[in-house]
Amino acid sequence: MVGPGSPVAFEALRAEALDCVRCPLSRGRTQVVFGVGDPHARLMFVGEGPGREEDLAGEPFVGRSGKLLDRLMQEELSMDRSRCYIANVVKCRPPENRDPLPDEIEACRPYLASQIELIDPSVVVTLGNFAARLLLGTSEGIRALRGRAYPFRRGQLVPTYHPAFALRSGGQVLAEMRADLVRAKRLLAVAAGGAPAVPELGRG
Ligand code: URA
Repeated sequence: MVGPGSPVAFEALRAEALDCVRCPLSRGRTQVVFGVGDPHARLMFVGEGPGREEDLAGEPFVGRSGKLLDRLMQEELSMDRSRCYIANVVKCRPPENRDPLPDEIEACRPYLASQIELIDPSVVVTLGNFAARLLLGTSEGIRALRGRAYPFRRGQLVPTYHPAFALRSGGQVLAEMRADLVRAKRLLAVAAGGAPAVPELGRG
């Protein structure tokens, strides 16, 4: 089967990404961190880019941020990473964990766009500024963007903080991140036809 959602197309995309030399990040990488999880998932997370541990493991969010993400996923969504899909804006590690540069984001953008196209999730949760700005086409910061859902393709996008920021900030930021995941859970249930579309009740 070839076409949207096709395993052949998804594997072809992964193979192409694993050989990618479209930007200078390719020269410093140990591994391309393409993504992990179920390519048929209804929920997709999009982070920023791999750090040192992800570069070594070839899997997104395996370090401290990933441990927090796994915990929040379990506690707020009752799921583990095998039931969603996790990808990043850039697939190769920026040196010294610096922010990805605009040219690097642009070079990598088609991979994320194709991943989203093929997975066709009902709900996308963006983690941090870079993913929210790229997918919503805005320069607003995450503090202004979070607290609501945005129409995105045929589904919804829920912006939340990057787990590394929540680890640094704790308290209020973590509580807001939990509220964002509850929002995502509600939208997933609505998309699955299992819950009434309750109007958004302000910012959590
Ligand atoms: N931070 C990210 O944005 N992505 C990862 O995969 C790991 C840390």
